[in-house]
Amino acid sequence: MKQIQIANTDIKASQIILGCMRMNEPSLDAAKIIQTAYDNGVNFFDHADIYGGGTCESIFAKALKATTISRSDIYIQSKVGIRPGIAFDFSKAHIIEAVEGSLKRLDTEYLDALLLHRPDTLVEPEEVAEAFAQLEKAGKVRAFGVSNQNPGQIELLKTAVKQSMNINQLQFGLMHTGMVDAGINVNMTNQAGLVRDSGILEYSRIENMTIQAWSPFQYGFFEGPFVGNTEKFPELNKRLTELAEQYDSTPSGIAIAFVNRHPAKMQTIIGTMNLSRIVEVTEGSDIVLTREEWYSLYQAAGNILP
Ligand SMILES: NC(=O)c1ccc[n+]([C@@H]2O[C@H](COP(=O)([O-])OP(=O)(O)OC[C@H]3O[C@@H](n4cnc5c(N)ncnc54)[C@H](OP(=O)(O)O)[C@@H]3O)[C@@H](O)[C@H]2O)c1
Repeated sequence: MKQIQIANTDIKASQIILGCMRMNEPSLDAAKIIQTAYDNGVNFFDHADIYGGGTCESIFAKALKATTISRSDIYIQSKVGIRPGIAFDFSKAHIIEAVEGSLKRLDTEYLDALLLHRPDTLVEPEEVAEAFAQLEKAGKVRAFGVSNQNPGQIELLKTAVKQSMNINQLQFGLMHTGMVDAGINVNMTNQAGLVRDSGILEYSRIENMTIQAWSPFQYGFFEGPFVGNTEKFPELNKRLTELAEQYDSTPSGIAIAFVNRHPAKMQTIIGTMNLSRIVEVTEGSDIVLTREEWYSLYQAAGNILP
């Protein structure tokens, strides 16, 4: 498993992260899922206070005790700032309260990383700064970052926040390539050339922030996985299958290799709770696609090069 140095930290973690958003499905054996991921090289686990209304964090904590893994063997990250059905909330009071809730449910003294989940347009950077400073001083959070935020929003936080912003979690995968489309189509008048996120990919590389690519197998916003959906994505699945045969891998493994090949050194957050898929996807992390193969997948996903 390829290792990724999280920007500006001493955290060197697996390229593949196991996302725990779907861990509250009652039929699952969470301990087996965590152990399988860990045995296949995954040592970084992503949470949010809202996943399963908080139950994903408590299920994880209970399940971890039934594995051979100890807390210090792994990195645990959580996210706060969304109050479902109410608002986005980056106030000091909410950040502190939400982190305390996550620590309790995760049954841990500290988070290795804390991210602000989705932008709060009513953010007051000084409040975020006070919350981060308090959490860091108390030893409750080791590293900080954001999720789904553009360069201007990160710069705004930086006007007050003293901690370095190490991570930005953004959706990226073969059927969600907005981050690279605009750069490839610079100076064109087509849809793909529209800059929707102010050049977040280039900004992250320049500012040395680690991108964590979420939902790498989904098309749209949770429409479903494109892998295996030959009716909607025949060309893409054909190319994934060809490369899977060539690399003795699987289409899911190649879909991960696509994200991994980008020189921005991203981590990839997988959400599968299926044991055999966890194994095949973690194996895909070691495949290094050629430039030609990467662009052929990009085009098979329906993108046109200028
Ligand atoms: N920051 C944010 O705003 C944000 C938003 C969403 C998610 N996330 C993070 O990203 C993580 C991953 O999200 P996700 O679950 O949507 O990601 P994903 O890995 O793209 O999708 C996984 C889902 O696709 C299914 N699937 C079906 N066929 C598959 C195949 N051939 N290969 C792989 N998966 C297949 C899986 O089902 P099986 O379990 O049956 O395999 C699972 O339900 C979350 O757990 C969360 O930590 C962050």
